Amino acid sequence: MKDVVKEKFSQHFSQAPEIVAYAPGRVNLIGEHTDYNNGFVFPCAIQFGTYIAARKRTDKTINVYAGNINDQHMTWSLDQPLEASDDAVWSNYCKGICKELLESGHELVGMDLFIIGNLPSGAGLSSSASLCVAFALVCNTLNQLGLDAIQMAQVAQKSENDFVGCNCGIMDQIASAAGIAGKALLLDCESLSYRPVGIPDDLDVLIIDSCVKRELTGSEYNDRRADCERAAGLLGLPSLRQADISHLDALEKSGDELAYMRARHVITENERTQSAAKALESSDAAQLSALMNESHQSMKNDFQITIPEIDFLVESVAQHLNNDGGVRMTGGGFGGCVVALTPKAKSQAIMQAVAEAYAKEYGKECKQYLVGASAGAHILESTLP
Ligand code: GLA
Repeated sequence: MKDVVKEKFSQHFSQAPEIVAYAPGRVNLIGEHTDYNNGFVFPCAIQFGTYIAARKRTDKTINVYAGNINDQHMTWSLDQPLEASDDAVWSNYCKGICKELLESGHELVGMDLFIIGNLPSGAGLSSSASLCVAFALVCNTLNQLGLDAIQMAQVAQKSENDFVGCNCGIMDQIASAAGIAGKALLLDCESLSYRPVGIPDDLDVLIIDSCVKRELTGSEYNDRRADCERAAGLLGLPSLRQADISHLDALEKSGDELAYMRARHVITENERTQSAAKALESSDAAQLSALMNESHQSMKNDFQITIPEIDFLVESVAQHLNNDGGVRMTGGGFGGCVVALTPKAKSQAIMQAVAEAYAKEYGKECKQYLVGASAGAHILESTLP
């Protein structure tokens, strides 16, 4: 990918790039819809992501090509008000980064860029966060802004929240910006501090894409977030992070059934996520298996974000795992992927059995990826002094 992005840059701009930046996608092992409730999540970066070749310009123009969209070309000026585009939605993520940086007082020069990625889009593996973090890293590097990984993640999140209009939390951006090879990050979304936890050598991280596309800007995600905020409000708390099981009674009595169910998911998921990190640390596969299963059931019944294809995949994997690992839906929901921690000796057999069962049940294929926990965003190459 690195050579491809360099070559494409040179074709379009007739000179070599100054830098090649990379930011990965992520998979979340457990802790779903907890990030925007200031809770705990447990993601790791994966070895697929977004590559950007870039070079400074002497004016204020941004000139950018999207390799995944037939080299679609977009251009805008940093001197003009930045407006979202309907024809090139991908460019809005980049414009949003420029806007956030300018509004927080940073000076930016114009840039030529070529972007290409190898994450499946709409699969729930954070292709948009990876694009935003890669773009933020390019801006940070070419303009010597001095932002650290967490600050870049925050700019990336703001672009999605304020410019693109998706009310996502901070998990995907931090996993992409701060990922560590071989580790998952137990991230506290209130303090933004995290504890790296090693993934044992005998476990694979298996991602199975149902190939049912999900659209995060769709209303369900924002609806769930609103339900949670309402639940916290009913309790008189700033967020559900401050709630525990003892608060559920009051919510049940409030008569707001949805607020009660959503809160029950978030409160129990925060507990499970912290316990799962401990279980992984002590290689307690049976405990991990139970926690991931409970998480899935909670997403299915209380948060109501799974679909039949996803439930089917989870059950198929669970049948073959025999509690030697864990499996659950991962990401925002309504399609997308399942994540499993599988013993290395069983992974191939599970992949084959699940592919066959899915094809038989739904007459379509699922896609499977064996991934490793990978390093977060970094500069792959630079000719800068
Ligand atoms: C999406 C969002 C994240 C998080 C997950 C659900 O990936 O971008 O912020 O809320 O859904 O856990």
